[in-house]
Amino acid sequence: MVAPIVKKPAKKTASSANSMWGGQFSVAPDDLLAKINVSISFDKQLYRQDIRGSIAHAKMLGKQKIISAGDVKAIVAGLDGILKDIDAGRFEFKDSLEDIHMNVEAALKERIGDAAGRLHTARSRNDQVATGFRLYVRDAVDALDGALKELQKALIARAEENVSTLMPGFTHLQAAQPVTLGHHLLAYVEMFGRDRGRAADARARMNESPLGAAALAGTSFPIDREFTAKEMGFDRAMGNSLDAVSARDFALEFLAFGSICAVHLSRLAEEMVNWSSAQFGFIRFSDAWSTGSSIMPQKRNPDAAELVRGKSGRMFGNLVSLLATMKALPLAYNKDMQEDKEPVFDTVANLMVCVMAMTGMVKDFTVNKEAMAVAASQAYSNATDLADWLVRELKMPFRDAHHVTAKLVKLASGKKKMLEELSLKDLQTVEPRLRQEVFACLPPLKSAESRKSFGGTAPGNVKKAAADARKRFL
Ligand code: ARG
Repeated sequence: MVAPIVKKPAKKTASSANSMWGGQFSVAPDDLLAKINVSISFDKQLYRQDIRGSIAHAKMLGKQKIISAGDVKAIVAGLDGILKDIDAGRFEFKDSLEDIHMNVEAALKERIGDAAGRLHTARSRNDQVATGFRLYVRDAVDALDGALKELQKALIARAEENVSTLMPGFTHLQAAQPVTLGHHLLAYVEMFGRDRGRAADARARMNESPLGAAALAGTSFPIDREFTAKEMGFDRAMGNSLDAVSARDFALEFLAFGSICAVHLSRLAEEMVNWSSAQFGFIRFSDAWSTGSSIMPQKRNPDAAELVRGKSGRMFGNLVSLLATMKALPLAYNKDMQEDKEPVFDTVANLMVCVMAMTGMVKDFTVNKEAMAVAASQAYSNATDLADWLVRELKMPFRDAHHVTAKLVKLASGKKKMLEELSLKDLQTVEPRLRQEVFACLPPLKSAESRKSFGGTAPGNVKKAAADARKRFL
């Protein structure tokens, strides 16, 4: 039998009605209302930001002479004490107090008495939660930016070690043209750089303060919204109170950034899964980053890479979840919006662990240069080099050169040989003007070295690109 989701209701009386808003209520909420309403189990994660917002608000109320200096002192000291206790795990969160805002306020009342009741002057939980949540997302952006920078640092370091390590570049997962591993890794440095840029753009837009919008319409008290904005490191106060309490596009932008970043992580993770397989044999993870199988003793599985790949799914889900929650909500605050937090918390936690695990894996793997070089020379990956030679030396239109080279590939493959293993005579059966020098452009290293165009894979370019990346990103 499934356990009941709520305990037997205690006898409800007027005194068990919520002390924060229970004035007109004579009976406590139905257990199921309490059950669906309660958010403390997850929104307690906002405690730091909630307290930061409350301290800014209290100081402003004091500065504006809305409450006394003595009350401000008591409130700030009380909130500091609560912060320390929560940090130390000494605080008891109560479901009966619904959310983080009311848990903190009730604790403040226990500690400092009546002055606590003045803190909520000229404020509502609506602007309070909008403020705390914005601060939380801003902190998350800053933490993730730092983690992504570490990942870029690790990738750049591995790229520098491998500026001329050859590997096959792929299209359609078929060997296409030789590239260098350094070039391949720096591609991800660019992606994560754009992710950081997206986070920074979102941060700039979200960095304005909703506090003081009150419930929805502003307040009759002479508050100073610029003061609280500056106290919390916001650039300015939001200009419309209805928008301030009901906007969640800052969270949507964060989740969009998270989703796109998760896509990039999943692509690198997928490459690691492929490359570490016996079929590729390009890289090997140490024991610290490999897992075994309970039945197959030979296995070294890349679980962390697979999980980075897999966790991207839930992060897209988090974005879609909040989009759907916000869609068509009329202004201003609606309780639906309490559903904004869990998707964001989930993305913050999972994106962070993915970025950090990816950094660990990038630092860890050893490269099998031999296997990569062999793979780089296979599958006629130098066919384009031969075609380019025909264009350059014989002034053949590229389309004709493509045709001639395709015939040469067919000839070689019929003889189970690589292009460079054909004799000049063989080559000349297809194109009599081919000369001995053509062979010089066929080794994979020559092929890579020839691709010196801006952004190309030539080792010299990669060395410079890595140095540039250090300047741009680190
Ligand atoms: N826990 C609520 C939330 O996350 C706080 C705001 C409650 N506001 C209200 N009017 N009931 O949205």
